[in-house]
Order: sequence, then structure tokens, then C-alpha cells
Amino acid sequence: MNILIVNGPNLNLLGTREPAIYGDNSFESYLNGTLRPTFEGTCQLDYYQSNVEGEIINALHAAIGHYDGVVINAGAYTHTSVAIADAIKAIGLPVVEVHISNVCKREAFRHTSFLTPVCVGAIMGFGMDSYRLGIEALLKM
Ligand code: DQA
Repeated sequence: MNILIVNGPNLNLLGTREPAIYGDNSFESYLNGTLRPTFEGTCQLDYYQSNVEGEIINALHAAIGHYDGVVINAGAYTHTSVAIADAIKAIGLPVVEVHISNVCKREAFRHTSFLTPVCVGAIMGFGMDSYRLGIEALLKM
């Protein structure tokens, strides 16, 4: 099984960005130190990050035919992007929405997600472990 992890804007700064909320681990370190060893022999994990909405959409389109599922943390685009929601609907792959923080406990503008209605489900609030849980969810489908 091939799974694509997509991170959106500002998630390239994980490790230094607001560590009280997002922790002090970079995503690359978490991916190579925890996620890949955890799922070794179970699934192939590829990773894509962009701060650009259209590039995230292109990555979702390019997933067709190459991946069995996608785990996406669209960052702030979660709360604004009809275009990413449309792309998720269009590609016909199971997509799990993840967030490091519990967005429902934060500012009101983070309580709306354009992605949840088009994803198979959403996992939030477990720190970086949200990604592992998202992958587990895809594997169990
Ligand atoms: C986030 C939550 C979003 O509201 C925020 O804009 C992010 C990160 C999270 O993982 O908790 O960039 O998606």
C-alpha cells in the first residue's frame, strides 16, 4: 500500500514554529525517526509539502494511480480552501484530514473545515501522533 502525506502552509517550519502548540520536532525528523520505522514493511510513505494552494492541488491530482490513500494536513487552507476540497472530491482516493492541534479548542475561525465533509474522517489534537493515527485509519479501511 502506498500512502501520500501532504502538508500545507507553514508546516515546513515545524520544530521552530509556535512549539507550545506544534511541538519541537521537525516533520522530516518525525517522518524518518518515527513514521517510516513504524510502518516499515506495511506501507510505503511518501511526503509532499507546499506553502502554495495550487501546488497542493497538483500533488493531489498527481496521486491518482500512484497512491492508495492520502493523509493531509492542509494547515490554514483547511479553513479557507474550496479548491482543495474540490480536488479531494475529484481524485476519488480515500483522504484522511489530520491536525497536530485540536483546532476546535482554538480560535473560532479554525472551527470550520472545508475538508472534513469530503474526507473519510478527521483526526486532531494528538500532536504529531495524529499522522500515525491517520495512516492507521487508512490501513484499516
Ligand atoms: C493545523 C491547524 C491549523 O489551524 C493551522 O493553520 C496550521 C496547523 C494543525 O496541524 O494543528 O497550520 O493544521
